[in-house]
Amino acid sequence: MTTALCPGSFDPPTNGHVDMIDRCVRAFDRVVVAVIDNPSKSPTFSADMRKTLIGEIFGDAVEVDSFSGLLADYSRSVDVGVVVKGLRALEDFGREAQMSQMNRHLSGMETVFMTTRPEYSFISSSLVKEVARLGGPMAGLVPDVVEKALKERFA
Ligand code: PNS
Repeated sequence: MTTALCPGSFDPPTNGHVDMIDRCVRAFDRVVVAVIDNPSKSPTFSADMRKTLIGEIFGDAVEVDSFSGLLADYSRSVDVGVVVKGLRALEDFGREAQMSQMNRHLSGMETVFMTTRPEYSFISSSLVKEVARLGGPMAGLVPDVVEKALKERFA
């Protein structure tokens, strides 16, 4: 059984994340979505809220967890096969390649990359928050539950 670990900030989850995780569900036996819990970064949504949103989006199709500290340490605790990361554009590749090499150095874990569908490649959580904060439309950017959470957060 191959477990895919999808780690990220998910602050908040976007349609790009949803597409990538959906494709992992089809490609792997078990998918664990792990939200980083790093309060020092002052996230817009708490780790618990981000976990709730992901749970509402995917139901039983994935396991949802949070972690702090090194991904390499966390990955051992959930018996992961591979870490899956999404690549939107060439700019993502440099940092992601470096992190995958560091993670392999630290724990031997492998990272596989999934390229984002072109229609989602411009979407990032930070841009989504900026648009939401300034009252722009969320259609096509985030799932309905996330749109509702953003509206409440920036009301
Ligand atoms: O959604 P993001 O912000 O791109 O997710 C980045 C994340 C959480 C996957 C990355 O920052 C991470 O793995 N953090 C854990 C700390 C760690 O292991 N650092 C060393 C990485 S080589």
